[in-house]
Amino acid sequence: MHEIELKPEEFKLFRQYIYEKVGIALSDQKSTLVRGRLNKRLNQLSLRSFRDYYDFLLNDQSGEELALFVSAISTNVTSFFREGAQWKWLEGYLGEMIASKREKKIRIWSAGCSSGEEPYTILMFLQHHLSDFDQWDIKILATDISPKVLSHAIAGKYEAKNIESMPREIVLRSFEKVRTEHTIHYQILPHLREKVLFRLYNLVTDPFFFKNKFDMIFCRNVMIYFDDVTRHSLIGRFTTLLPKGAPLFLGSSESLTTHRETLKLLGSSIYQRL
Ligand SMILES: C[S@@+](CC[C@H](N)C(=O)[O-])C[C@H]1O[C@@H](n2cnc3c(N)ncnc32)[C@H](O)[C@@H]1O
Repeated sequence: MHEIELKPEEFKLFRQYIYEKVGIALSDQKSTLVRGRLNKRLNQLSLRSFRDYYDFLLNDQSGEELALFVSAISTNVTSFFREGAQWKWLEGYLGEMIASKREKKIRIWSAGCSSGEEPYTILMFLQHHLSDFDQWDIKILATDISPKVLSHAIAGKYEAKNIESMPREIVLRSFEKVRTEHTIHYQILPHLREKVLFRLYNLVTDPFFFKNKFDMIFCRNVMIYFDDVTRHSLIGRFTTLLPKGAPLFLGSSESLTTHRETLKLLGSSIYQRL
């Protein structure tokens, strides 16, 4: 592979563009990372310089190249039942939430859902803990900026290694084991799949079009690359979509130093709308 140099002035162009488009603040030290991770892409596109790639990125109306760029410099890593302490906490909260409901309706947003493990975990959790799960009108909105991970999520197809640490009972109720000649995979069952609405959505630049509030919002391990201004503004918008008492889940390495008047830390990066 031909190694293409990333000049400081080119890096500045990317930095500005990425900040405006996705809120990711790239420090000067990230120049090597951008060059290293994007070189392969430039070669694939037969481009000779990062300046050419910058023009290509700007001219791509589909947003797919932007998503590829974001995937290259960030991570889509996720897993089923990630952040175990939060699910434990939710067991207690669920009873309280259900008791306060007048309608059998649950609305949840998984913001930055990656390949679907998070929204499907929410459903598996509800299926496991609600004895009358089938009688509830449940919709999970699952959004991500990356078309690639979203199409994986929509397909709902996972490898054995993705589900091996899950309780067998949950696996049996949630997946069909599919054997082909050489492989085995696990296909999420339709009664769960149909409860998720997957959408391509950029948390930083797309408008908040929501008419109704959510019972809870998950935005875990998404804001790690955002700077304070972007994070602050996004959290502010999340709070407008949560009724009093509703939880906002962040990743365990993420914490809030702002919004103390509207969000109270309950532990394990779980915040409650005041
Ligand atoms: C590390 S994954 C976290 C997945 C899941 N929430 C979890 O905690 O397991 C972060 C996801 O956020 C998405 N993401 C990053 N920036 C975004 C943005 N501006 N708008 C929407 N999604 C974004 C990425 O594409 C990626 O799939």
